[in-house]
This record gives sequence, C-alpha cells and structure tokens, in this order.
Amino acid sequence: MAEPKKLFIKTYGCQMNVYDSERMAEALGTQGYVMTDTAEAADMILLNTCHIREKASEKVYSELGRLKPLKDLNPDLKIGIAGCVAQAEGEEIMRRAPVVDLVVGPQSYHRLPAMEAQVRAGQKALDTEFPAEDKFEHLPRRPLPNRAPTAFLTVQEGCDKFCAFCVVPYTRGAEVSRPVDRILSEARDLAERGVREITLLGQNVNAYHGAAQDGAWTLARLIRDLARIDGLARIRFTTSHPNDMDDDLIAAHGDCDKLMPYLHLPVQSGSDRILKAMNRKHTAADYLRLIDRLRAARPDILLSGDFIVGFPGETDADFEATLDLVRAVGYGQAYSFKYSARPGTPAAERPGVAPDVADARLQQLQALLTEQQRATQAGMVGREVKVLFEKPGRMAGQMVGKSEYLHAVHVTSDAVAIGDIARVRILASGPNSLAGEVLGLV
Ligand code: SAH
Ligand code: SF4
Ligand code: F3S
Repeated sequence: MAEPKKLFIKTYGCQMNVYDSERMAEALGTQGYVMTDTAEAADMILLNTCHIREKASEKVYSELGRLKPLKDLNPDLKIGIAGCVAQAEGEEIMRRAPVVDLVVGPQSYHRLPAMEAQVRAGQKALDTEFPAEDKFEHLPRRPLPNRAPTAFLTVQEGCDKFCAFCVVPYTRGAEVSRPVDRILSEARDLAERGVREITLLGQNVNAYHGAAQDGAWTLARLIRDLARIDGLARIRFTTSHPNDMDDDLIAAHGDCDKLMPYLHLPVQSGSDRILKAMNRKHTAADYLRLIDRLRAARPDILLSGDFIVGFPGETDADFEATLDLVRAVGYGQAYSFKYSARPGTPAAERPGVAPDVADARLQQLQALLTEQQRATQAGMVGREVKVLFEKPGRMAGQMVGKSEYLHAVHVTSDAVAIGDIARVRILASGPNSLAGEVLGLV
C-alpha cells in the first residue's frame, strides 16, 4: 500500500477557522490524507487565514516566505491558502506568490477534494465564490475517532451587520444558518464520541434562524433541544451581537442548566457617537440594559467583550465613555484592539486617530480590563466550581480543565480523568488560571 499523503494545517483567526480546519482535514481525508504536526513532513500545507486586522493578514505573507524553501526541497509539496485572506486577496496572492498552488474561500471547502486532484495534476486551483449550496451539506459526515471532551460546532456563518470597520461580511458572505436536524445529528455524534461540552459557533451566532420541520428555530430553542442529549453536559455559544439577544435566549441563561454562565458580548465602544459611526445600531445604554437583564436571569454570569480604540473620529471624551462603560459592566475578561483600517470597509476612507494616541488608549483600556480580570479571578478563591477536565497539566499528577466560567483550573489529583466533571474548591488565583482541590466527581 502506498504511504498516506500528509497534511499540515496552520490555523489563524477565530474559532470558526478552528472548526473549518477540522472539517477540511476530514474532507482531504477522503483523498487519503492523514494529519501531520510539522510543515516539513507535509505533502500539502494549508494556511487557514484571518483578515480581521492588518497584522493578522500580514502573517500569511511572512509564513509563505518561510515555506518557500520547503517547496524548493520538495517540488511535490502543494501549498494552499484558505480562510478570510483567501477570500479577500486570494486572486492577488495567486498572481504574486508562485509557491501558492491553491486558494479556497471559506464557503467552498466542500470543493477541496476536487481542487486537490487539480493541483496534483499540476494545475493551479482557485475558488472564492459564494456558492448556492451549503458547504456543510457537502462535506463528509464527521468520521470521528474518540476525541477531546470539548468541541466546536458551527451553526451559523456570515454577517449582515456591516459594522463600518469590519471585513467579515465581505469575507464570509451573508448570514446563513445550518438546518436544525444537521446540527442535532452532529451534536449527537459528538456526544457519542465522548464530547461533553459543545460551543456553538457563528459570526453572529444569536442571529441563528435554522430551518426545521415546524419553521425556523431560534438559538434559544436549539440550545434547549441540544440540552436533551445524554452525555452532553455543557453548552456555550459565541459570538453574539447585542441586537440579537432575544428574550428567550436571555431566559435560557436562567433556566437551562447546561447553558454555561459565560457570555461573550462585544460592544466595541461606550460612546454613542462612535457606536453610530461604527454602524452598530445600538447605544451604550441599550447595552447596559441588556447586561442588567442577563444578570437578572443569571446573577453569576461572567461577561466578556471586544473593544476597538482609535476608531476614526474617536475623541478623548469618546474614549472616556468606553472606560465608563467598562467600569459599569465589570468584565470577567475581554479583548481590546487598536483600530486597523481594512481595505473595502466604509471606515477605511475616514481620517484616523494619531497612532500614539491610539496606543496610549489601548494601554489604558487594557490596564483596566486586566484589573477587572484579576479581581474576577481573585473573587473565585474559596468558591466551589465545576471543572470539566481536558488535559494533563505540565507537572506530574496535574490535570487542567475549565470551570463553568471558562477559567482554566489546575488540580493535582489522581481521582479525575480527561472528560470527568468534578466539584473543585478554588484555592488560589494566578495571572491566567486558578488552582483548586477536587471535592468529588459530579
Ligand atoms: N462577529 C463577531 C466578531 C468579529 S471579529 C462580532 O460581531 O463581535 C472580532 C473582533 O475583532 C470584533 O469584535 C472587533 O472588536 C475586532 N475587529 C474587527 N474589525 C476590526 C478592525 N478593523 N480593527 C480592529 N479591530 C477589529
Ligand atoms: Fe463584523 Fe460587526 Fe458582523 Fe461582528 S457584527 S462580524 S463586528 S460586521
Ligand atoms: Fe478572522 Fe475571518 Fe474569523 S477575518 S476573525 S478568520 S471570520
């Protein structure tokens, strides 16, 4: 038997890319590929790329520079670009970078096997269309071996919101929801293979409106149905838009035990003027009211967010309003970014904030968010949480898992195995994780 061909995938960007990389590996598995951990051993290298900020998309070009010598050593090596940079700049990359054999946009992964055959025959292959058919319907059913206790499951893709700074509506296309029965059967498959926690993914996951026999379902309804799957203990979802948090989804945080008390809810800015310029279609007060309602439904919910500083036109007063909003919410953790002008987006045409001003704001915001994160973690000390164990720790006898609140928790115990959920008392808080003692299995 011929030796199997080896596939190396490097994944950048968001969790949707992580999920897609897994599905691409499965699709190329049908062509006889097995995964390898090193680029040097590969017959095919795929870079699953991110276009969200300039720094993210530049990584592709530097990585291609590093890969070129491998191709000189092994002329049979094929190099492909997938993901959001492929969608945005794929044709240009193909023209400019002769090392690239294949360019595939995020909605065309089901066409990979055919494209692979094309590049093996010595041609180049490019597909950045938004085909009418759903890529997931045409990807092979997930032939999963026993696997890690947590998994991503994409339920929705694309975005119709068109925030003025963002490339996602252009790279991922319009909002599309996967049908309910496909999601439920994929979730059952995952649970049968030992998955205990599923994170539902979408660029705007709470805009989910997937078709079922009795009409379109909301995300809340989908979550309540998934909660009935035996073995599946935890459900999360990300990323949500404030305007799509409906009453039932808020209520689910209070009455659905399997839905974890953690929500990533980006707001981007605390200034109404900037929110308007960003085309967010909500005010800071709308957002704060929403947070109040979520906390009324689930008082211990841990909130996470995304912020952009230095958006065109942002004044000191606008930035102060962002700091005020952060103080008012009290985030358990959050991400903050310096605005990056992206070609083709409306905001890219507008005059920007001076880079040193934006840098200073980013530092100030990050200091505040870090302080809130530390305080949240310190507040866990002495509390009892439930931890789903995911892997051994670095020290002998150590195990690491995640609490309901998505904090990494270390324990030293031989009483727990990967996939177990245990009650743990938190004893100490470090910079990025907690340490605790196991009280007993759940
Ligand atoms: N669909 C999600 C995630 C979008 S991308 C959402 O709506 O929140 C993740 C984050 O990247 C965004 O929330 C935003 O904070 C940041 N981001 C997007 N475009 C950006 C840009 N041009 N410059 C800086 N940060 C950006
Ligand atoms: Fe981008 Fe806005 Fe859509 Fe999020 S909601 S993906 S930030 S356009
Ligand atoms: Fe990046 Fe595309 Fe995700 S731009 S953040 S990989 S949707």
